[in-house]
Amino acid sequence: MRLQKRGRLLLLLKLIVVLGSLWMLILLSHPKTGWDPTHILGYRWLEYTDADGGPEKVCNCSAILQGEKEALVQAKLLSITREFHKSVRIPNEYYIKATQDCRKFRISRKYISFPLSQEEEDFPLAYSMVVHHKDFPLKTNLEIVRLLRSLRGGNSLESEKMSERKKWRVSNVHQIVDGKIQGIGKAKEPPPFNLPILSGNSYIVVNRGYIRSVLEDTRVQALIEWAKDTYSPDEFLWATIQRIPGVPGSTWPNPKYDMTDINAIARLVKWQWHEGPQGSLQAVYPECHGNHVRAICVYGAGDLQWMLEQHHLFANKFDVDTDSIAVYCLEKYLRQKALAELY
Ligand SMILES: *[C@@H]1O[C@H](CO)[C@@H](O)[C@H](O)[C@H]1NC(C)=O
Repeated sequence: MRLQKRGRLLLLLKLIVVLGSLWMLILLSHPKTGWDPTHILGYRWLEYTDADGGPEKVCNCSAILQGEKEALVQAKLLSITREFHKSVRIPNEYYIKATQDCRKFRISRKYISFPLSQEEEDFPLAYSMVVHHKDFPLKTNLEIVRLLRSLRGGNSLESEKMSERKKWRVSNVHQIVDGKIQGIGKAKEPPPFNLPILSGNSYIVVNRGYIRSVLEDTRVQALIEWAKDTYSPDEFLWATIQRIPGVPGSTWPNPKYDMTDINAIARLVKWQWHEGPQGSLQAVYPECHGNHVRAICVYGAGDLQWMLEQHHLFANKFDVDTDSIAVYCLEKYLRQKALAELY
């Protein structure tokens, strides 16, 4: 299983990405045409300016990204001001109208729809997106390409021992009744081929061979069938497949190969119960600077500096209605970085 060869390098990245954010950065996709507009125009037109909107007239992104106290306090104040929200909010009607002419919309929003480098052209990525509006990239496309290449054909996803308090999810038969999932008081038969069930999440970075196994391997087919009446199968299915012998890029089932979501590169998330002050022996990450929704941190501008030090490709959750400055400054940072990488 050597995937490094040019042309066979398509890694599949299955992630929820942000749709509908105010200033969305589109990651590069396959170039389909040989026409390269940069020959005529250069890259200047892809830079964000004041005319593109956004709150930078009233906040300073570079100061925020460097974690400067004064700038963060100001950002926090803005994020709770009604007038500010009003001034940066883009209504759905705008998008409905503006996207009538797709080509014009793509140009006016400055989407990057061609590779910025040969290195990226040689390593096209595939994404499976679940339509959602809250996880944003933390890396440029070039950085993502380099991180994926450094995996050397391996996959990167959470896959660890299932905690006792979650085992009911896979040991009881579940059914959806009136739109709600519930146990029916019947024990489930053991998994096919006695596959050990591991715990993970639905954000994964996997190679093409892994996806082929999902579609074609009879063991995986049986597992998917078996999982249909379990609770939240996406939180164990990918993690379990990652430990099936012979699946490309997988690791052995031995617990020494367990991988946590912090060590996997797919997605960064802050759970409230893992937060704590620096120097704490229990904490996994610093406290959330935004607010919590179902015990998950919705990032504030104050989280950015720390987030950009992490190796994860994407992060959730963001919410432009709670703190638009966090997404705005992140998007601006990525765009500047992507264009700076050209030179
Ligand atoms: C924004 O912050 C940076 C970093 O502190 C500083 O160098 C720069 O002068 C500031 N820009 C403005 C417009 O205040």
